[in-house]
This record gives sequence, structure tokens and C-alpha cells, in this order.
Amino acid sequence: MTTPSDHRAGFRTQREEIENERLPVDGSFPDWLVGDLIGNGPGQFEAGDTRLRHWFDPFALLRRFRIEDGTVTYANRFVESRDYAFAERGGGVRTPFPGTPPDRPIWTRVRQVLSGTFPDNPVIGVQRFGEELAAVTESPTALTFDPDTLETTGQIDLTAGLDSDLTLAHVHHAPEEDAFYNLGVSYGRETTYTLFRRPADGGTPTALTRLRFNEAPYVHSFALTERYAVVTVNAFGLDALRLLRGAVTRETFLDAFRPLDAPLRFVVLNRTTGKHEATVTAPPAFVYHHANAYEADGELVVYLVAFDDERAVTGLTLSNLRSDDPDLPSGDLRRYRLPLSGGDADRERLHRGPVEFPTINYRAVNGERHRYVYLAETNGGSSLPTAVAKVDVEAGTVRRWGESNTYPGEPLFVPAPNPTGEDDGVLLSVVLTPDADRSALVCLDAGTLRELGRAHLPHRLPYGFHGQFYGSSSPGRSMA
Ligand SMILES: [Fe+2]
Repeated sequence: MTTPSDHRAGFRTQREEIENERLPVDGSFPDWLVGDLIGNGPGQFEAGDTRLRHWFDPFALLRRFRIEDGTVTYANRFVESRDYAFAERGGGVRTPFPGTPPDRPIWTRVRQVLSGTFPDNPVIGVQRFGEELAAVTESPTALTFDPDTLETTGQIDLTAGLDSDLTLAHVHHAPEEDAFYNLGVSYGRETTYTLFRRPADGGTPTALTRLRFNEAPYVHSFALTERYAVVTVNAFGLDALRLLRGAVTRETFLDAFRPLDAPLRFVVLNRTTGKHEATVTAPPAFVYHHANAYEADGELVVYLVAFDDERAVTGLTLSNLRSDDPDLPSGDLRRYRLPLSGGDADRERLHRGPVEFPTINYRAVNGERHRYVYLAETNGGSSLPTAVAKVDVEAGTVRRWGESNTYPGEPLFVPAPNPTGEDDGVLLSVVLTPDADRSALVCLDAGTLRELGRAHLPHRLPYGFHGQFYGSSSPGRSMA
């Protein structure tokens, strides 16, 4: 007998690590689909005896699906961060986690705050630096790993050459420039966001411009169009004093998170020169993820998932997520139209949530007019998504894939070779089936959302965050 609270299986530790196991497949994966899907996300929800409190706290567990000739080979492994090693040695929480304070003496906590010590547990996603892949979070450090074994191999200083404390986990790839764009963040008397470009070989970044704020707004991702970077500055952020005080009081990022006395701001920057072109405002909202943005007739059109209030962050405590009746805000897929002359944005709800993890055919349409957005959608009483949805933003129609008591993760689009249209390809999503205490990799036809194949894992994976598909024939990224 299953209950709606089965979603809590997505928030339970999986300690088992599997080294390259070929998975049984129902149906079939297309012959042309060749490459590695590498996902990242929570694996262990405790640091010794300390129960971690927020969804962004658990230790990073990499999951890799190597797809070739219709076969799927799976591996998973924890990232050997200093935070993870410290917890494994019995030390508990090493650094100030987003929702759990360090298990350290007060003088260590004060030193950490004064020296700007951030966690190195890279739980959000995966990035490529030249030939290397790395697990990333909002941190000064990325941890590289071997895609064959998932062994942690080293670290990259993400802030070298930047006057920033850390960089964001979501970057943009600009294949025509063979470069990545990202934001560096610095906290202090003022908070700064630095737009920078890094060569795809992982070389030295070039800072393009710096945005300064008296308050500390939180930014998780941004959008990139042909000419512009659009930095969506949330109407929510940190109480810096409270965060500082946290060294003594054990208050965390989560405790310091609050509404700011500000609207939602879209800061439009010229991505070549860094010139500040416009700031466009909209009623307060919170945004983690952009689907896409493009230029059209003197305006910018931005697609994103927006929440009305700060519960988008504060509601993601593990106690709330594991409850029978979680109290969570609902993110909607919205379209904002930004006049390039500045002023107020027009906004429109395209699809009522709860939805999250918006993706597109990134390689084909990022920065350009698109028709389809793929999302993980939640229908009723669960803190985890229950369907994959495909929204046709032109026709206003929706297709869905789902099955009862199954929770699909971020749907990643992989284009077919010689595609005949924007949605000619597949969607890959890791689904959790608590009844079976198992997860599976599902491959959907992105045109119809019909299931093509399913590879069964030998165990259950906690619900993940973001992944990338690295194909032998399409080496680019799959999403923003
Ligand atoms: Fe994210």
C-alpha cells in the first residue's frame, strides 16, 4: 500500500556505491544515443550524528549513465570533498552549510565567518573545464572527477583571477566563442555580482562588469541571449548581519534568508562589453532557474520559473519535505517581456505549477526563440515532482508523462542527429519508484513524451538536482 508521503524516499541516504554495472533495459534506448549522462545531487543526509536540516546540505553523490549501442552502464560515487571526509572521520559538519551550522568550537566558527569559509560539498551540478569534468556548487572550489570511475581527482579554484568569494553552479556555454559565461559573487559591506567569461579550456576568466548592491540579493542562475546577459536579481536575499552573528548564534544561510525591500530586477548587460544596458523591474518574486531568453523587437523575452515568496528557499527544510503534507510554494512557468529602454516588465503565467527544473533544446535554441520548455511538474500533495511536462509556449498546450507513485527528476533534452525539428530528440530523466525501493533512467521521445526505454538501477537514488549529457557527437551542454 502506498501513500502520498512516499516522496520521503527521495530524501533518504543511499550509501551503496556501484562501480560500472550494466542495467537491465525495458524497451530500448535509441542507437544514436551515445554518451554519458552525469547527474549530481544529495546522497547522504547525515554528517555522523548530525542530521542535516536543509535540502542543499546533504553530501554530493555523482550518478553516471553511460549509454552506447542501446546499453546503459551505471556507476555512482560520493564526491570526496573536505566536508565529506571530515564527516566520514566523525567530525560532523565542517563548514557553515546552508541550513546546518558547523559542529565546530565557537572560535573556529568565528574564524570561518571572518575568513569567508564556504562549504566545498559540490551538490548542485556538473561543469566542464577543458578536458576535465567537475562537481560544482556555489563555492570557490570545484572538485574534478574521472568520468570512468567517478573518483574525485582534484580541485579547481573557481575564483582565481576574479575578485569574488565564489561562483554560481549554473553557467552558460557560448560555443561560437568557445567560452563559458558565469557570475562571481562577493559578500561583504556590499554584495557584488561579477559577470565573467572563461575560455572553454578552463583558462583564466575575464571580468566584464560588476554589479553592486547594498543588500545581499540571492542569484542562482542567469540568462544569456545573442547580445546580452540577463541577471535576474531576486527580491529575496540574505540578512548579512544575521549571517555574521551566526558564528555565535549558530544561525545559518537559511535563518538569514528574507524578503528584501526591493522588486524583482532584471539587469541587462552587454555580454561583450559589460555595458549596463537597462534595469527592468517586476513585482517581487523568487527565481532559481531560467528556461531561456531571447531578443525580439526592442525587448527581451525571458522564460523562467518564479515563486511568490521566500518559502522557495525556507520551505526546503528536510523536515518539511519529508512531512505528509509539505507546505511549499508553487513555482509557475512565466514569460517576462523586458523593454530594452528599461522600466517595468510585462509578465504572464504560461503554465501553473508547481513546476521546476526547466530545460530546453539548449544547443539549438538557447538565446533564440524557442517553442518548447520541459519541466518536472508536481500534481498534488507531494514535495517531489510526479510528471514530466512539455509546454508548447506558442500553442499554449501541454503534454505529460508520468505514472503513479513515480517521481521523475530534471528532464534533460538530447537532440537526435540531423534533427527535423526543435523537439526531435529524447528526454532523459532519473525516476524514483519508492514501492520498489528502486530508481530507473527513463528515456522519452521528446516529441510525443512516449516512453522509449527504461534502465533499472539496482538500488534507490535520493532525488537529484542537475545533470549534463556529454555526447560523443554532441559535446555541448544540455541545459543552463
Ligand atoms: Fe539549480
